[in-house]
Amino acid sequence: EGLHSLMVAAGKLYFGTAMDTGNFNDPAYMAIVTNKSEFGMFTPENSMKWQVTEPQLDKFSFTQADEVAQKVKSNGQMLRCHTLVWYSQLPTFVANGSWTPATLSAVMTAHITNVVTHYAGQCYAWDVVNEALNEDGTFRQSVFFQTLGSAFIPLAFRAAAAADPRAKLYYNDFNLETTPAKTAGALRIVQLLQSNKTRIDGVGFQAHLAVNHTPPRTSLAATLRRFTALGLEVAYTELDVAQTALPESAAALAQQARDYVAVVGSCLDVPRCVGVTVWQFTDKFSWVPAAFPGRGEACLFASDYSRKPAYDALVALLRGR
Ligand code: G3I
Repeated sequence: EGLHSLMVAAGKLYFGTAMDTGNFNDPAYMAIVTNKSEFGMFTPENSMKWQVTEPQLDKFSFTQADEVAQKVKSNGQMLRCHTLVWYSQLPTFVANGSWTPATLSAVMTAHITNVVTHYAGQCYAWDVVNEALNEDGTFRQSVFFQTLGSAFIPLAFRAAAAADPRAKLYYNDFNLETTPAKTAGALRIVQLLQSNKTRIDGVGFQAHLAVNHTPPRTSLAATLRRFTALGLEVAYTELDVAQTALPESAAALAQQARDYVAVVGSCLDVPRCVGVTVWQFTDKFSWVPAAFPGRGEACLFASDYSRKPAYDALVALLRGR
């Protein structure tokens, strides 16, 4: 029994992972991906981002993301779609354009409509807006916020809802687990949408965490409940727990296992937490070392695909031992 089967047995919808086409030519990687018991949900790590799907104005390209979607579908697994409106990995025409509110809202709406329509019926959920907040809970100075103010958020959710009534629509961000001012900002985004009668179904907690800096299970669950109390579902969407000193000690590996258990355990504690996605399952392909030199070894499997103590601890947690 793998993580997904055990998660379903525990009453959740899925255990998932990020992956992308760059991983497809690694047989050991794909053997794990195609094991339906291990992972039931996949998020394309990069291939659905604006830079890839609309590299030039009105020139849409779905080749790469279709490869991921096709692989997942042919194996009877689910897809979390990521992401429509994000300040990063934007094509230069968006990032460097000189926009008015009217021209940017038209381009943003057209982007959302095209991409969501292309994948309509295939996405369990869409991360409609990603990382709109600063750590203090104010809005990040993205091209979208600078041009449209916070109105870009309801605009984006409405376009997504119109293009796929079935996909759950999520706001997704990092450090919502750890940073109360940012959590408060995300709650304000939910309330902004709800007071506008605009559909939002869920909030994604990315959970890019670090060993020894992961909150305890009870406070993680309490944070999730602040969102489920507003009628939403929640999910951990990009979980990894980075080591901060490398190579890690045996004690640090054991702490990493406890940190993973705290996060997945908090999802078990909250009925409307639907599932957990890790942001790659092997250290071989983790984004962490490139982005944070000196950090890494953040995943459940080592680079050689051996299962780490954190993997075994999640199996024990999900088996109820
Ligand atoms: O595709 C190019 C390739 O052509 C080029 O040779 C190579 C050289 O650097 O770069 C490749 O692009 C890289 C891309 O990943 C695809 O591999 C970018 O440099 C690299 O910056 C990019 O990193 C991604 C990052 O988002 C970008 O911000 C990571 O893989 C991806 O894991 C990461 O994912 C984000 C989530 O989407 C949102 N939340 C945070 C999370 C971690 O940063």
